[in-house]
Formats: sequence, C-alpha cells, structure tokens
Amino acid sequence: MELLIRPTPRHAARLAARMIAERVRADPGLVLGCATGSTMDAVYDALVELVEAGSLELRGCTTFNLDEYVGLPPNDERSYHHYMRTRLFERVGLASDRTHLPDGMAADLRAEAAAYEGIIRAAGGIDVQLVGLGKTGHIGFNEPLSSLMSRTREKALTPETRRQNAAFFGGDPDDVPSRALTMGVGTILDARTVIMVVTGAHKATILAAATEGPITARISATALQLHPNCTVVVDEGAASELEGHAYYRWIYEQEPEWERYRADPSL
Ligand code: GLP
Repeated sequence: MELLIRPTPRHAARLAARMIAERVRADPGLVLGCATGSTMDAVYDALVELVEAGSLELRGCTTFNLDEYVGLPPNDERSYHHYMRTRLFERVGLASDRTHLPDGMAADLRAEAAAYEGIIRAAGGIDVQLVGLGKTGHIGFNEPLSSLMSRTREKALTPETRRQNAAFFGGDPDDVPSRALTMGVGTILDARTVIMVVTGAHKATILAAATEGPITARISATALQLHPNCTVVVDEGAASELEGHAYYRWIYEQEPEWERYRADPSL
C-alpha cells in the first residue's frame, strides 16, 4: 500500500483522476471499477475535465460499480445508477451497454449477485478499482464483520451508514434503504489495481485505523493492506491522524514513481 497526501480534496481528486487517465491511455479498453459517494464527485469532475480538454477518451472502457441500494429503480434520482449516469457516464459519452451496476430491483438478489460476479469475470476482471471509505470503515457497502473473502451479495446497512448517506435522501436516515447489493471484499481485492480516495477531517480517525491499524473484519478497508497494488490518495484533513505521515510525504516528494506528477501544481 502506498499513501499519498495532497494539500486539498481537489488536489487528491485530480491526482487520482490523473492516475486513472494514465492507465486508460495505455489501455483504452480498460475495465474500470467505479465508486459512489460525495468524495467521488471531485474525482469524476477531474476525469470529465481531462476528457473535455481532449487528453482522455473513456468511450472504450467498461465499468463496474461497487454497489447499489436494494429497492431503488435505476431511474430513481437517489440510486447509484442515476448518480453514475449524471456524474460520469453521460458526461464522457460512455454507452450504457459498457456500464454495469448491480440491480437492486432484482426479484432474486442472490442470482443477481452471482450474475454480477459472472459478468465481471467475463470482462476479464477489473483493472483499476476506485473506492471511497465509509465512516464505518466500509469499502463498497461491506459493513463491519463482512468476511474479508466475501463476494457480491446483499448486505444490511448500519445505522451509521444510513445517517452518513441521509443527505442524499432528504436528510432523514430512515428514508435511506436498509439494504444494498455490494461487491464483496474479496471481489474488490481481485482488482489488479485499487485506488482509494479519502478526503476531509471527519475521515481522519477511520483512515488511520484502515491504513495503519490491524487487519480486521470490523473495518473492511483494512483488507486493502493485503492488496499488492493499492494506492491511497488523501488530503491533509484526512491525513491529520496518521502516525506515519512524515514517511508518506517523503514518498510522494522523493520516489521516482511520482516524479511526473510532482511537477504539476494542480496535483
Ligand atoms: C457509500 C458508498 C461507499 C462510499 C461511502 C463514502 O456508503 N457505498 O462506496 O465509499 O459512501 O461516502 P462519502 O464519499 O460520501 O463520504
């Protein structure tokens, strides 16, 4: 795991977008794993900026999202289907047959989960998976005690997660669906590269636990410590409780791998 600290959420989002763009330029048919949540707004804005500037083309990519609420139809404005269409897919011309999210309306959710795993496999697996970090330490909707080997399945959301996502549902946590279909921790770990983006001081404690704490099913993001190719991009606010922050800063400032990004003040 490599952890990169950037000054603001915007810098962090731009750096993550630039890392994705570089991979897509090398492989225009890349399979991209997408995430949702307010942290991702800035990442998708940064990707759209690159597309509009003519330096990136995403039309050849295939995408798979981490999760979707159970019981929300794709045209519901609060669904992740709607979020992805309006935040990314329509803005970069990604055709709907190339984009995939689990169907939270499926009559048989177990069959839907198994089918989702199947289409990921058929696409050759996920090359780059974007993830955010929930306040409970979840990645996707893998709430505490999710098996670190879990696959796509239905999961009950914690009261904390429903509170965290209430803003998207008019403010009342009781209006947030209580269940979701989510890729499992094992599904996420199968991605060849993982990029986790975490911003804001309200995430500082859980970020420190997720990256520097012991691996535990109580915090599914700790499983990323086992991933051979995971980069965590954070802003100063989220970094404020990291014990190893001096070393992480040194990595970005000194390691040759990050040299091409260092020269650009917008990153
Ligand atoms: C939801 C999503 C997660 C995301 C989390 C963080 O719970 N299922 O994938 O990481 O929100 O949300 P935010 O970026 O709004 O803090």
